[in-house]
Amino acid sequence: VPRVLSGIQPTAGSFHLGNYLGAVRQWVALQESHDAFYMVVDLHAITVPQDPAELRANTRLAVAQLLAAGLDPERCTLFVQSHVPEHAQLAWIMNCLTGFGEAARMTQFKDKSAKQGADRASVGLFTYPILQVADILLYQANEVPVGEDQRQHIELTRDLAERFNGRFGATFTVPEPYILKETAKIYDLQDPSIKMSKSASTPKGLVNLLDDPKTTAKKVRSAVTDTDTVIRFDAEHKPGVSNLLTIYSTLTGAGIGALEEKYEGKGYGALKTDLAEVMVEFVTPFRERTQQYLDDPETLDSVLAKGAEKARAVAAETLAHTYERVGFLPAK
Ligand code: TYM
Repeated sequence: VPRVLSGIQPTAGSFHLGNYLGAVRQWVALQESHDAFYMVVDLHAITVPQDPAELRANTRLAVAQLLAAGLDPERCTLFVQSHVPEHAQLAWIMNCLTGFGEAARMTQFKDKSAKQGADRASVGLFTYPILQVADILLYQANEVPVGEDQRQHIELTRDLAERFNGRFGATFTVPEPYILKETAKIYDLQDPSIKMSKSASTPKGLVNLLDDPKTTAKKVRSAVTDTDTVIRFDAEHKPGVSNLLTIYSTLTGAGIGALEEKYEGKGYGALKTDLAEVMVEFVTPFRERTQQYLDDPETLDSVLAKGAEKARAVAAETLAHTYERVGFLPAK
């Protein structure tokens, strides 16, 4: 059975619609056909300052949301990154294999550090993609389900896997990105020229899955479209409408063509009102399920304990093999 691995950051408050449609939805589907490993990446989260109590709470909240979204601990391995120390250990080896200039070319670092200022951005933020490389290689993942913004990091993973294999002998599986074209990039509802994100979107442009459903409906109804009136998918000329059609189509399973037909001759208002309803139907049970998992910390802890144990078994084997290849003297 092919293996998939992916991760998500424990962000404050809630996942957003881009996280769900771009990644988590695929995680849920892939657990049926793949040996699936999914994790909440708390080591990645501390590349920017975090309040300890909030980090802990957000990590639990992230796990609760993943379960609410449909991850089934019987069908996948769900764990917290810091519960598996091998991530940091393999990351060190990968750091030593990466060129400084190569790391400096990672566009996410460039964007994020530009925002923070070079002296405030941590070295951890700089080596962030290399930790991600270690995450993936530890599990010998064949595919990595992510959104488009992670593609460059998967390419780095492939490069480093091939470099290591070339230098030390076949050790790591070279993974492929698993990026669905339709949902690779979900756009901000107010500015469809940028992706939906916690850092760049305005509150009105960002759909948080745990927002009050009324707030969500309002955001959808006031989404920016264009001055035209025709409901047609055209990402280049009609990015706002196209983004709404993508969201609608993915959440309901209706094809884009069928939606274009349904709304022929109707205005944007009709589309937005209906999509607002679709969104409310999606987020209402999601919120309830998330709260149920949060209210049951024992179940959550036991899921994570089991997940960490399964993950460690795989990670420890890969790391031991890697240590031997590198030439570390075995501890007796
Ligand atoms: P993160 O936490 O920023 O995002 C989680 C997932 O959501 C996707 N995503 C989007 N997809 C479509 N449209 C959007 N607007 C959108 N915004 C976010 C991201 O592409 C991602 O798949 N570095 C990773 C976490 C990570 C990881 C890994 C992923 C750490 N180790 C190993 C895969 C494998 C990140 O920060 O994702």
